Amino acid sequence: MEAVPHPGGPLRGVRVASDRASLAAARATLASPVGLVPTMGALHAGHLALIERARRECASVVVSIFVNPTQFGPGEDFERYPRTLEADLRACETSGVDLVFAPDVATMYPPGHTTSVDPGVPGTVLEGAARPGHFRGVATVVTILFDLVRPDLAYFGQKDGQQAIVVDRVVRDLGMPVGLVVVPTVRDPDGLALSSRNAYLTPAERASAPVLHRALRAAAEAFERGERDAGRLRSLMREVLSGEPLARPDYVSVADRATLEELATVDGPALLSLAVRFPSVRLIDCWPIG
Ligand code: PAJ
Repeated sequence: MEAVPHPGGPLRGVRVASDRASLAAARATLASPVGLVPTMGALHAGHLALIERARRECASVVVSIFVNPTQFGPGEDFERYPRTLEADLRACETSGVDLVFAPDVATMYPPGHTTSVDPGVPGTVLEGAARPGHFRGVATVVTILFDLVRPDLAYFGQKDGQQAIVVDRVVRDLGMPVGLVVVPTVRDPDGLALSSRNAYLTPAERASAPVLHRALRAAAEAFERGERDAGRLRSLMREVLSGEPLARPDYVSVADRATLEELATVDGPALLSLAVRFPSVRLIDCWPIG
């Protein structure tokens, strides 16, 4: 384990483990309960909300930073995904993180590895249909992280609603001894959900991007007024999206919040979700109702 110094400032560095042995040694010194916040780095206020929540609820907080190759498809943005480790370590230190786990690919996936965790149907719809194999990659890396860090609680963002549902399914199906906490989405004042991928937006696309939030809000408000017809909620979201010529809807969904099956009628916990293609980037957002 090494302390990474920050020559430019008064901070003294945060504890960082980058291999399995130093992680195990550092983990053994942490007070319980231990909270884990899995991330791919490029930390923003959305990640920090997860860290702050973990800080409030746990005696120790571990943040993992790993751009996981197995959850990116061919032609996706694995290579150009923003990597800002120095700034991330500084943010972790100022947020009171006890330990950062920042492994390389060979540490997470030792040469010759073949095993993966397949979450089944909830991983094949919506984002899973648009990005085949994505949730197998997420389920696999989260399983490895849980096994290495052995957290009591793990923190995920509502922003990636399907991811939280898939991870919950995996944890329950495999009987993993970890509690999941889902933290509300952090948004810019104009409603755009914070995302590391927002950095790819051109100024014109950035101006259009709050349309995702407007579409979700329109459907959520209709639901609050008593609309239960899922088809009409989908049409409402499409109608709002059609007002932004730069935004091409990929999917618009009203699904059961446990199984992610598309609904005809909303009669229990449901998830409004959508994916929208802009010329430079594809964005997702979601909103729980019911
Ligand atoms: P990443 O995109 O870095 O996100 C890490 C965590 O931060 C996720 O749980 C995500 O839902 C949450 N998050 C991102 N933006 C948020 C926002 N605006 N408000 C609240 N939470 C937000 O998601 C991943 O990494 C990876 O798939 C990972 C789980 C680390 C597995 O590789």
